[in-house]
Amino acid sequence: MTVKSKESIPEEYSQAVNELLSKYQGTTLGSLIPILQKTQDIIGYLPKDAMIRIADTLNTSLSKVYGVATFYSQFHIKPRGKNIIRVCQGTACHVLGADKVMSGFEKYLNTTPGETTEDGKFTLESVACIGACALAPVIIINENSHGKMSADKIDKILDSYKNKSADSLGDTTHGIGDVVSEAQNN
Ligand code: FES
Repeated sequence: MTVKSKESIPEEYSQAVNELLSKYQGTTLGSLIPILQKTQDIIGYLPKDAMIRIADTLNTSLSKVYGVATFYSQFHIKPRGKNIIRVCQGTACHVLGADKVMSGFEKYLNTTPGETTEDGKFTLESVACIGACALAPVIIINENSHGKMSADKIDKILDSYKNKSADSLGDTTHGIGDVVSEAQNN
């Protein structure tokens, strides 16, 4: 079995990356952020080989590309899971037990914030206040928010994400806009 390095461009995305970079060949550093965004859109993150290719395309150094990719939180230099779990660590959520919620996820997923589970299904992250403090503690999984969260709900919520797409989830989830307006009405 061939084990692919996380630093390589996955074969299935290689042609799309080639096409993208050929459009930017010979352009200046001003193109760096759009190229990083589009490359990440294709691959899902920015492997080292992609950053080397981008540096060559823009005739700049890998350290310059790496510096920008690691400066902005929108960019990810490690593979991310199919589902992104964000646990709010804002003040209201913190006061109402966000730490216990985060610890619960860490234990359940056997991972730590910023990391992805071995099976690639979940990435755990912490975020600042998402503006739904009345429903604290709040988490977001992909585009769906779950308010009044507690560690003992993790099991049931994550089970529903293991085998279904986010779009097919039922009434345990809300779009982030719903949660914010619900919070504002309380
Ligand atoms: S502090 Fe968590 S939603 Fe505001």
